[in-house]
Amino acid sequence: MAELEYDGFTPEEAAVINRLDRSRLPRHLAVIMDGNGRWATQRSLPRVLGHHAGVETVRFMITACHSLGIPYLTLYSFSTENWKRPEAEVQALMALIEGQLRNELVTMDRKGVYVRHLGRREGLPDSLLQTLDDCEAQTRHNTALTLSFAINYSGRAELLDAVKRLARAGHDAASLTEEDITGAMYLPAHPDPDLVIRTAGEMRMSNFMLWEAAYAEFWSTPAFWPEFRAPQLLAALEEYLRRTRKYGGVTS
Ligand code: IPE
Ligand code: IPE
Ligand code: MG
Repeated sequence: MAELEYDGFTPEEAAVINRLDRSRLPRHLAVIMDGNGRWATQRSLPRVLGHHAGVETVRFMITACHSLGIPYLTLYSFSTENWKRPEAEVQALMALIEGQLRNELVTMDRKGVYVRHLGRREGLPDSLLQTLDDCEAQTRHNTALTLSFAINYSGRAELLDAVKRLARAGHDAASLTEEDITGAMYLPAHPDPDLVIRTAGEMRMSNFMLWEAAYAEFWSTPAFWPEFRAPQLLAALEEYLRRTRKYGGVTS
C-alpha cells in the first residue's frame, strides 16, 4: 500500500505517522510554548529574537496539526501574568502577534483554519483586538482546524469571568452544574484538551486551561519552543497513544 504523505513532515516522519493509530490522536492539542527567552539568551541574542524564532514553530504546528487531522489546536501565547515583563518585551510580543496574524490570515484561511481568541479582551491593544476580530470574522466558516490563540489568558481569570457571568445572569447557586460552568467559559463549544505539551523542560501548568485540562495528558520536552519540530511532536503523540486514560475509573 502506498505510504500517505503529510505536509510539513519528511518521508521518514510520514512513515512513523503511518504506523500510528491515527483514529486515536488527540482531538484537542494545547501547547504551553515556553523557552523563547532561554533559546535567545543561549545564543547571546535579545529575548525578543527568541519570540521571533518561535513564530516558525507556530507555522510548523499549524501545518502539522492540519495535515494530521487534529481538529483543535490551542497555543498559549500571552498569559495575564506576562504583563509583569519589561514593557519593551510586552510591546514587542503584542506587535509580533498582531503582525503575524495579519501576515498569515490569507494562508490560514485558504487552509481552512478557523482562528479564535481565547482570553480577556480588556487590556489588549485596540489594534490587536481589531485584528483578532477580523481573523475570526474572515475564517469563521472554516472547519479543517480550529486554532485558538490564548492571549491575555489565564485559567483563573477565565473561571472568575465565568462565575461573574453566571451571577449576572441570576443563576441559582443551588442548581449550578459543571455543564453551566463549562458553558460560561470563553470558548464553550471546544472539546477539552486531550494532550497538553509544554516545552523548555518545565513541568507546570502556569495557569493554563485549569478547568478544561482537568483530565488532559501532560507531556514535556527539554526542547525550547523555537527548536520544537516534528521529532518532538511525534514523540509526544507516540507517548500519548501509549497512555491509558482512566478518568478515575479502572481498566479491565
Ligand atoms: C515563551 O517563552 C513565550 C511567552 C511566555 C510569551 P518565554 O519568554 O517564557 O521564554 P523563557 O521561559 O524566558 O525562556
Ligand atoms: C507560560 O509561560 C505562559 C505562556 C506560554 C504564554 P511563562 O514563561 O510565562 O510561565 P512561567 O512564568 O515559567 O510559569
Ligand atoms: Mg517562560
